[in-house]
Amino acid sequence: MAVPVITRRGPEPVFPPFEYSDLLNEASFGDWRDALVKDGYTVIKGAVSRERALAAREEAFQWLEDFPLGFKRDDPSTFKNEHLPNHMKGGMIHGYGIAHEQWLWNLRTEPGVIDAFAKVWGTRDLVVSFDSAAVMLPNRTDVVDKGRWEHIDQSPSRRGLYCVQGILNLNDCGPEDGGLMILKGSAPIIEEFFNTIGREETRTWGPVDFYSFTDDQHQWFHDHGCEWVKVCCEPGDLILWDSRAMHYNVRPTGQRDRTCAYICMAPAKLLSNEDRQKRKVAFDQYLGTTHVPFASLHLRAHTPGIRADTGLPDPLDTGIPRYPRVATDTVLKLSGIAAY
Ligand SMILES: [Fe+2]
Repeated sequence: MAVPVITRRGPEPVFPPFEYSDLLNEASFGDWRDALVKDGYTVIKGAVSRERALAAREEAFQWLEDFPLGFKRDDPSTFKNEHLPNHMKGGMIHGYGIAHEQWLWNLRTEPGVIDAFAKVWGTRDLVVSFDSAAVMLPNRTDVVDKGRWEHIDQSPSRRGLYCVQGILNLNDCGPEDGGLMILKGSAPIIEEFFNTIGREETRTWGPVDFYSFTDDQHQWFHDHGCEWVKVCCEPGDLILWDSRAMHYNVRPTGQRDRTCAYICMAPAKLLSNEDRQKRKVAFDQYLGTTHVPFASLHLRAHTPGIRADTGLPDPLDTGIPRYPRVATDTVLKLSGIAAY
């Protein structure tokens, strides 16, 4: 079954010019940015040390165990909805104020992570998404697979680069360990694709910066030489991808968990005053955002997620982090609250 999307036809939206739209036009950097241009993604080895990444994985598991639901990282019989906080697609967690847990913020402020985004954008004055984490446990028997959900996280009506997304990988991630699927080579030809089919159709579950592809459209990319790659990497590696690259994720089929943090940074100067005000609300109220850190903030008051096992709102989902982040200078700057 495909991901339910709202399809709508209408006039093409017009977006204002974007300062960085041409940034990844040429693969002439002589470093990993060239792969980002040509393939639409790259893996930065050891952005964080293996030890640090594996320690963060343990923190993620501790966070899961600290819910009074009986989950034990060493007991596969507890790898079930009834023992876990709410999650989607087998392990992506969005409730519980997780975006503002200290352990997740510690990963956003890792120097190697900031260095990578600084190299992409040419500035260290960055703002970060209040995004989430995933713990996809192996051998789940109670997760309904809803099929492929290939998409891009950018409106077809934006031209050029708009966003670079990131996954900080926290466990060994081989071919059977789940993770990110990227349609290699799709980002550089996405504009040609939409020039061919037009931009009148919206195919999204909500956000403007999203487009879900039909099977026919998918074939166009294969006919133009693109191929699916399951990105394999080690603990501490940072995957960066252009939001124009078609992607989705897969659950583990082997014996290892797929654990990672979603981190996306962009130049802080892209924030409007309204964006800054909204981000302060999100920061103060522990709300999450989408991956675009500087715009399109759709904030809404926290409501407890619906539990898959009971069908009822989760009383444990208060929206308050268990260990809320300390508002250091770096945290406030990356949040878009303090000026650089
Ligand atoms: Fe995505």
